[in-house]
Parts: sequence; C-alpha cells; structure tokens
Amino acid sequence: MKINKLDKDNIPEHLAIIMDGNGRWAKKRGLRREQGHIEGKKSVKSIVESCIELGIKNLTLYAFSTENWNRPKIEIDFLMQLLFLSLRDEIKNLNKNNIKFETIGNLERLPKKIIEYLKKVKKETKLNSKLTLTLALSYGGRKEIIDVVKKISDKVKNNIISSKNIDESVINNHLYTYNLPDVDLLIRTSGEKRISNFLLWQIAYSELYFTKKLWPDFRKKDIHKALISYQNRERRFGKTSDQIK
Ligand code: FPP
Repeated sequence: MKINKLDKDNIPEHLAIIMDGNGRWAKKRGLRREQGHIEGKKSVKSIVESCIELGIKNLTLYAFSTENWNRPKIEIDFLMQLLFLSLRDEIKNLNKNNIKFETIGNLERLPKKIIEYLKKVKKETKLNSKLTLTLALSYGGRKEIIDVVKKISDKVKNNIISSKNIDESVINNHLYTYNLPDVDLLIRTSGEKRISNFLLWQIAYSELYFTKKLWPDFRKKDIHKALISYQNRERRFGKTSDQIK
C-alpha cells in the first residue's frame, strides 16, 4: 500500500546528501556562482532543522570533494571563507540544538585557520547527542578505502589483527565514519545520477533518491517528499519480500 503521509516510526537513522547545483542555480538567475553557494548555505540550515524536527540522528553532507580542489582558486577561497563564517555564526546554535559537529576527509589541505576552527567546533559540541552533523570536506571515498587498507595492514604487520579475522566490522571500525551507522538514504540534488566518490562502502544498501531540484531550492518540503519516497520502498537487504514481512 502506498503511503503519502510521513510515518514517524520509519525515519532513516543516517541521511547523506550530495548537495549539487549551486552554480547552475546562480547561472539561471544571471548571478555569480558564489551567490549560489550563499543560497546553498541557507538550504543546509533548513535541512539541519528538518532533521531535528523529524528525529533523524545522523546527517552527512558532501560539502567539498577531493576533486573540488581543481576548481578556480577564487571559488575555493570563497567556499573556505563561507565555511569559516558559517561555523563561526552557527556554533551557538549547534549547542543550543544539541548538535554534535564532525568532519570526514583529509583536512590537511584546508587552510590552517579553518582546520583550527573545525577542531574547536568539534571539541565544543562533542557531548551533544540529538543529531550528529558530519561535513565531508576534502573527502574522497576511494581515498577513505585506501586509508582503511593502510591502517589495517599496519595492524596486521604489527600482529594487532590477524588477516583471517578481517571482516565487515573490522573495515567499518577503520572507516572515517567508524562512529556512524550505514547510510539508509542518499539524496543527490540537481538531476545528476552519480555517486561521485561519496561514501562508497557505507552506501552498499542505501536507498538512492535523485531529484532535479537544485540544492539552493531544496528545502523542508523537499526532504519530506524524499522521506515519503524512502518509506514507500521495501528494503530487503538481499532477502525475499515474504521474509521481510
Ligand atoms: C555543489 O554545487 C556545491 C558545492 C561544491 C559546495 C557545497 C557548498 C554549500 C552547499 C554551501 C555552504 C555549505 C556549508 C557547509 C557552509 P556546484 O557548485 O557543483 O553546482 P553546479 O554543479 O551547478 O556547478
């Protein structure tokens, strides 16, 4: 039976979003790309609020990929400054709303000022428990897997782990997302139907939701629509329909 009203008892535990289309949003309006990122930041705020209202416990946002370093320096500098100002403006709200802030990715390439500020926000929100908001920054899924292989092979070499005991839980425990559950729902905006090197291991059994909406236009009613689509699916994890019922 198709449902068209949100079921509060079937909310994804972990929502991940590829926020795409800021540049196109701006171009359509004859604005600079930067304006699209500013508007995109408003969508981030709106979706974080939705997660709190809906009881989603984990939200992971693809904010900057390893490939995004190839963008013009002026745009990269703008995105870094926008990130810094957003964190500075929102740190109080994160605490007020009981939000724990985390990052995944290779932060070493980020400006020192940002690295320091990210550390501060993580430290000051680490005891919060309503929502874990994770920003993927300078993140690449294949790089994450390479790092896992390196960490585990070091442990095998030093006799901390035996290679015959390597299983899914060992891999999970060495991912950047070791403290997060698997992704239940992955959303990508802007009409592209690609994963673009995001959370490759963690989305093995995720439901995928693609929408033509550009990220700056993606707000509360759109997340509701995505959740209704999610709730209308039968997640079988390889089993048969009868086994699930
Ligand atoms: C994708 O649109 C967006 C990004 C690469 C950056 C994401 C940044 C934001 C949503 C703004 C602020 C966020 C935080 C966390 C402060 P695009 O530039 O690839 O758009 P296009 O594909 O239309 O060119």
